[in-house]
Amino acid sequence: MNPAATDEAAAEAAAPGANDVPVPRVDAAPNGQEVPWRHRHLLDVDVLSAADLELVMRTADAMREVLERPIAKVPALRGTNVTILFYEASTRTRVSFEVAAKNLGADVVNIAAATSSVAKGESLVDTIRTVEALGAQMLVMRHAVSGAPYLAADVFGGAVLNAGDGWHAHPTQALLDLYTMRRQLPGGSVEGRKVVILGDVLHSRVARSNLWSLTAAGADVWLCGPATLLRGFDAWSKRGAAGGRRFHVTSSVDDALRDADVVMALRIQRERMASGLLPSLREYAARFGLTRERVALAREHAIVMHPGPMNEGVEIAPDVAVSAQSRITDQVTNGVAIRMALLYLLAGVRDGA
Ligand code: CP
Repeated sequence: MNPAATDEAAAEAAAPGANDVPVPRVDAAPNGQEVPWRHRHLLDVDVLSAADLELVMRTADAMREVLERPIAKVPALRGTNVTILFYEASTRTRVSFEVAAKNLGADVVNIAAATSSVAKGESLVDTIRTVEALGAQMLVMRHAVSGAPYLAADVFGGAVLNAGDGWHAHPTQALLDLYTMRRQLPGGSVEGRKVVILGDVLHSRVARSNLWSLTAAGADVWLCGPATLLRGFDAWSKRGAAGGRRFHVTSSVDDALRDADVVMALRIQRERMASGLLPSLREYAARFGLTRERVALAREHAIVMHPGPMNEGVEIAPDVAVSAQSRITDQVTNGVAIRMALLYLLAGVRDGA
């Protein structure tokens, strides 16, 4: 028997229909509700089942409904302390977590490592013990070192949400990307859709997390970029993502973009890049930049995405970024609903524990 076929059959049997998922009543606190969510932390999306993904998507729908109200707030996390600890620069992730936690009625504490006692040499473990002693119950953390939120989860008594660690993972970005695709694509599903992730895949935690969630949701994922920025992914594609789920790796922009349903450009991460990986940004833009002509290779209904921040004129042309096909600002808006959903679901486990 073909083990991949067995995996596929099992995944299909396990995949819930949208109506099978009991969505929480998000106006009320999560404790006391029968919600099938068992994860204390959100460190990456690799541990999320098809049923977990569906629950996150449906809970985000409920949060969007809250966001459309004249007063876009519910008291579901009243009395909960959400501490946001960022060791790296951020605009959209940090602000949207803060907005999400406040919309749920939580008490929010913001810590930027650069202006904290980290600057005096305090260790990560000491900082986490300190914020817990100051009342933190949920910890949203971004760190430049891959794996740092896993260490935090070992030390911290509450829930840890990874807001991006090194090159490794950016789970809330992957979930808001999946949510945005589902809302925008005809049929409301990524199943069988060609999703291209184009650019600096090597340094991208967004690409790594998206690979797990998009293949779990049945998308036909293509990673594209210069060979130097795809190192390791070719071998990985032969093994497959979890459960042997396949994806494609190519340096041919034409092959990748032809008939694509979604094109996601990635930022060239100059701050993480060793010299010698690219001849020049100008050459990169000429060979791999997302231009109108290249987008025209994709399907007529195709959408353009970018996790931000963008280097316009390098990985994406300015006119593409603001074109009718662009869903970049929708990604940012959906990030609030997705982060509200995740704070809510994790709080339910914490309160039930
Ligand atoms: N997409 C993303 O993580 O953006 P920020 O670095 O601005 O949070």
